[in-house]
Amino acid sequence: MTISLHEIQYSLPLRSATGPEWTAMVLGDFNHFLADHASCERKAHAAAMMLVNRFPEYPALQDIMIGLAREELEHFQQVVSLLRERNIPLGADEVDSYVKRLLTHVRHPREEHILDRLMVVAMVEARSCERFCMIADALPAGPLKTFYTEFARAEGTHFPLVLRAAKKLFLEDTVNERLEEWLAIESDVAQEIPYRATVH
Ligand SMILES: [Fe+2]
Ligand SMILES: [Fe+2]
Repeated sequence: MTISLHEIQYSLPLRSATGPEWTAMVLGDFNHFLADHASCERKAHAAAMMLVNRFPEYPALQDIMIGLAREELEHFQQVVSLLRERNIPLGADEVDSYVKRLLTHVRHPREEHILDRLMVVAMVEARSCERFCMIADALPAGPLKTFYTEFARAEGTHFPLVLRAAKKLFLEDTVNERLEEWLAIESDVAQEIPYRATVH
């Protein structure tokens, strides 16, 4: 049985919900949203590869993150094709204030650092999945709705995947405790950032 987008969206542990004003903003400037979406997929690929490169002492991390990086690169390619069909150029990356603010909460000692970097990836995956579910739900029937429904489903597997990676490296209790703290941080950050026609 395929689970519905609503089930995916409400299974995410996010502490605050994105408001419908965000969806309206995206639908009002969809080309801008698409260009930003492409850059998010490229950054998701880069973040997964950064974890592989920066923390070679955790081999358990490598297979999971290489797999994730590969999937994000495929997503990037899919969104780039969509941009090309619509004659939208790949823009320069804009500063992602959401991710930038999340990163200020990353601790520096090495073990805490890797756990927090994984948590940042997990938070970004969860919030992106929530928003792709909202877009897929709001779009009229057609290829774009199918496209975003598939994206939402794929992104829905990433939050649990990153959490599983963290639990291979650290005790389950350690991960769960820090996850609770990160969910509170993420909720504050998401609410501080004004809505724009972008993923975050
Ligand atoms: Fe993705
Ligand atoms: Fe993802």
